[in-house]
Amino acid sequence: MKRIAVLTSGGDSPGMNAAIRAVARTCFFNDKECVGVMRGYEGLIEGDFLPLSRSSVGGIIHRGGTILKTARSERFMKPEGRAEAMARMREAGIDGLVVIGGDGSFHGAKALHDMGMPVIGIPGTIDNDVAGTDETIGFDTAVNTALEAVIRLRDTASSHDRLFIVEVMGRNAGFLALEIAVASGAEYVVVPELPLSIGNLCQRLRLSHEKRKSHTLIILAEGVMSASEMRNKLHDTGGYDARVTVLGYIQRGGSPTSFDVLLASRMGAYATESLLIGKSGYMVGNVNHRMVLSDLERSWSEHKTLSPELLGLVDKLN
Ligand code: F6P
Repeated sequence: MKRIAVLTSGGDSPGMNAAIRAVARTCFFNDKECVGVMRGYEGLIEGDFLPLSRSSVGGIIHRGGTILKTARSERFMKPEGRAEAMARMREAGIDGLVVIGGDGSFHGAKALHDMGMPVIGIPGTIDNDVAGTDETIGFDTAVNTALEAVIRLRDTASSHDRLFIVEVMGRNAGFLALEIAVASGAEYVVVPELPLSIGNLCQRLRLSHEKRKSHTLIILAEGVMSASEMRNKLHDTGGYDARVTVLGYIQRGGSPTSFDVLLASRMGAYATESLLIGKSGYMVGNVNHRMVLSDLERSWSEHKTLSPELLGLVDKLN
């Protein structure tokens, strides 16, 4: 193996640049070349390759976003698009590929592996909804970014004795909502994984108000419904004046936390070293603080579950 390519795909997440840097620098450490692929699988189909050097990945370790840009490629879903991508990689002398993204991106990675291209995946998404790893790159940063906002909201909620419904990201998963809820001391969390009873929620809000709790925070994962939809459904807010806030895409931006930089650096190095010793068709994971490999299919076939301990804490500590 002489030349390894790296791409970022799907939604961006803080720490992707640190992972790109780690892949490139591990290549150089092992006297290999590294090529960046622009805009994920779109760039692979178009042969949009950027040779990386020590200096071109310098100064990016703490930068949010991805210097390689990212995309969700429709063309790559089709066999013709994949064949084009394979042809472009062969022409460019690429011997192996590192794909940084979520489980959707790993479907593509598996297809390339099946076509004979050595591929290793690195889980990068703020949603943390990838089985085979305790954390994905960007999750910790997104929790901290949202937390900062929720702490501010708590100040104004408490000053006005208000109920705030805070909508956070998570189309299909409640990992972000749950950690934000526990870390901010929110009273309720609403996630796609668990059924929601509006009647029960209204009753609990009434009880809170009766206990003279000055304010209440509900952390709502966007996949369940929008914050304004929830506001409209709450026929009884228990006496609280209700307000809604949507945190939106600010959760995907910003410099990665030290946790995410460390995770990305470890995963980038481990993925590259795994390719160099002939591994393919795997995703890197951080399980009990150790780097491990698991089959790419596991990332989408196995359902990662929310921690019952954390779910219990939201109720216990409110
Ligand atoms: O990055 C994951 C995620 O933030 C989801 O939580 C969200 O629903 C989705 O991406 C939206 O991203 P986009 O609008 O870029 O498709």
